[in-house]
Amino acid sequence: AKRVRVHHLREMKERGEPWPMLTAYDTFTASIFDEAGIPVLLVGDSASNTVYGNDTSLPVTVDELIPLVRAVTRSVKRSLVVADLPFGSYQVSVEQAVATAVRFMKEGQAHAVKLEGGSYFAPHIRAITAAGIPVMAHIGFTPQSEHQLGGYRVQGRHENHDTVVRDALAVQEAGAFAVVLEMVTAEVAKQITHDLVIPTVGIGAGPDTDAQVLVWQDMMGLNRGKAPRFVKRYADIGNIMLGAATEFANEVRGHQFPGPEHTFH
Ligand code: KIV
Ligand code: NA
Repeated sequence: AKRVRVHHLREMKERGEPWPMLTAYDTFTASIFDEAGIPVLLVGDSASNTVYGNDTSLPVTVDELIPLVRAVTRSVKRSLVVADLPFGSYQVSVEQAVATAVRFMKEGQAHAVKLEGGSYFAPHIRAITAAGIPVMAHIGFTPQSEHQLGGYRVQGRHENHDTVVRDALAVQEAGAFAVVLEMVTAEVAKQITHDLVIPTVGIGAGPDTDAQVLVWQDMMGLNRGKAPRFVKRYADIGNIMLGAATEFANEVRGHQFPGPEHTFH
């Protein structure tokens, strides 16, 4: 199978073919999603929640994410692997942003990086791209800024409509190969998708973006808690695991496991 490259994503936009993207953080999930033909896998800073058990994305560090990125890149044959730059690892300066992106490429062997931010981060995107590293931007609701944005709120309504559109144009102009639109109105997402030549990747951004991304534990129900409205549950892995663990426990307690077929003499 041929590796997915950033130009393939652009070509799918030109052909009007929507494409899927999922998060992945370990070897088995990465190889399953690769086999399923998911062209882009994101090792998101959502690992802060989904792997490390924090309640926001803010605490996760570069040193915690790099081993996950390496596990995913090692495990795919075809998918393009994007590494998310965590909070604090690129906001300080353009130089810091390039140095962090280089670590993800060198130590994590990522194929691209992603960062949250619009116009203000255009110089960072331009510098990382100039270093030979493809950048996916992320605008609209940006979870690393939740305290500044006032919580999980839909963006692109009323007063910040122009900000989201301006951010989209700025990250394209800075050289981003794609842009995530998170929790923006379907109307704004549709307009941005029409105006940009680079692919838009929606999450809670309606049906008209060029691609759709979800966090895999949310869409497969490993996360058994409440999921946001934009998540569709495609499986119920959480309850399958609960059932298997419970049955194992019962069989051990009831002297039913191991049976003769699991036993050496
Ligand atoms: O960290 C993440 O999982 C993300 C996606 C939801 C876009 O940024
Ligand atoms: Na993220």
